[in-house]
Amino acid sequence: MTSPPRPLPRFPADFLWGVATSAHQIEGAVGEDGRGMSSWDAFAAEPGRIRDGSDASVATDHYHRYARDVALIKDLGVGAYRFSVAWSRVLPDGAGAVNGAGLDFYDRLVDELCAAGVRPVPTLFHWDTPLALEKAGGWLERDTAHRFAEYTDVVAARLGDRVDRWITLNEPAEVTLLGYGLGQHAPGRRLLFGALPAAHHQLLGHGLAVQALRARGADGIGIANSHGPVRPASDGDEDRGAADFYDLLLNRLFADPLLLGRYPDGIAEMLPGPVADDLALIASRPLDWYGINYYQPTLVGAPGPDAPTDFAGIAIPPEMPFSVREIEGHPRTAFGWPVVPDALTELLTSFRERYGDRLPPVVVTENGCSYDGLDDQERIAFLDGHLRALHRALEAGVDVRGYFVWSLMDNFEWAEGYTQRFGLVHIDYETLARTPKASFHWLREALREQRPPG
Ligand code: NOJ
Repeated sequence: MTSPPRPLPRFPADFLWGVATSAHQIEGAVGEDGRGMSSWDAFAAEPGRIRDGSDASVATDHYHRYARDVALIKDLGVGAYRFSVAWSRVLPDGAGAVNGAGLDFYDRLVDELCAAGVRPVPTLFHWDTPLALEKAGGWLERDTAHRFAEYTDVVAARLGDRVDRWITLNEPAEVTLLGYGLGQHAPGRRLLFGALPAAHHQLLGHGLAVQALRARGADGIGIANSHGPVRPASDGDEDRGAADFYDLLLNRLFADPLLLGRYPDGIAEMLPGPVADDLALIASRPLDWYGINYYQPTLVGAPGPDAPTDFAGIAIPPEMPFSVREIEGHPRTAFGWPVVPDALTELLTSFRERYGDRLPPVVVTENGCSYDGLDDQERIAFLDGHLRALHRALEAGVDVRGYFVWSLMDNFEWAEGYTQRFGLVHIDYETLARTPKASFHWLREALREQRPPG
């Protein structure tokens, strides 16, 4: 494959370009400076949970090499860096005593970013629940939402003087479905629809965290939700019904309460106790911007004896009212995910149609792909295609303000361990050497072309 033609269409001059990571996937140093254990430390220690038997105790060793990594971000020429704060570094037990040494790390990182002219965009929760809270039920418990708001206040008090873009939660849908519903992610629970309280409590945690951030004078608050177009496997009623339901879980379960102040029909009944007051609180704290993580569209059909039971390594139990099918006719990443850039335009315009003026400005908080090798021409083609698709959404009138590549560097890809490489920068896991890939050089050049001359 050769590099796609340049240049990209011109994006607005103030468009926010960035790269993204998360604490558990890159930091390592799990036992250092008073960090507490997280749900993912415990999960990875259970035999058979992680594909290559690995864990994130070293990961990319970013905790010690953050200055080198910030230099790479600066060299790339993006204006922003999305990272996450590990709750268990700041509050080792999830609540109570603050661990100053843990908080110091994020202070140093933010200083380093500011000195490099890169805007820090912290995510407050990217899946690594403090183990003490997880053992008490984690997000299934309402209490966790309150503890999350307290933790948010601690972080905002320390970093708020230099941070003007915040992300509360990352992909609460995955935490709910994969973590509590199907058990493929930490904490490994398999509650099926019994997982829905975890969705509600994350939303409540978000609402309370926004309250805490606003009380500290913060604005620029967003969330990063995973979304993607859902297509029915056929025109038949059963497949369409299954696809509608999957669409509700992926695209509306979190967006409707956040943007409309209500759950989609049928959901509120499955939640613990009355939720009206919580919904009022969540919706009364409007977002300044809405973050979308986009990777792929999904083809969904009715369950049944012929339906596949496995999707990208995730077993879908027969009790679920849908089955996920392979999308044919598109290139695939090393993960097997179909590469469908047009679906990003479709997703963004459909959000605009569904939520109208209730949708604040959008930021694509994650988009990227897994491929091996340093000469990653496929990643270049992926990014090129998706940036053009994003530009078409802008032309169609969707107010998109930024785009973050997942990921700055190869990292611990959750249940896949180190087998999937999403980075613009290659990590040699023996030496921990960082080597920019062809896609890094391509993006740097593409961003240079976006800047006005002079
Ligand atoms: C979404 C998650 O936020 C991130 O942690 C993960 O690595 C990427 N998707 C790729 O699967």
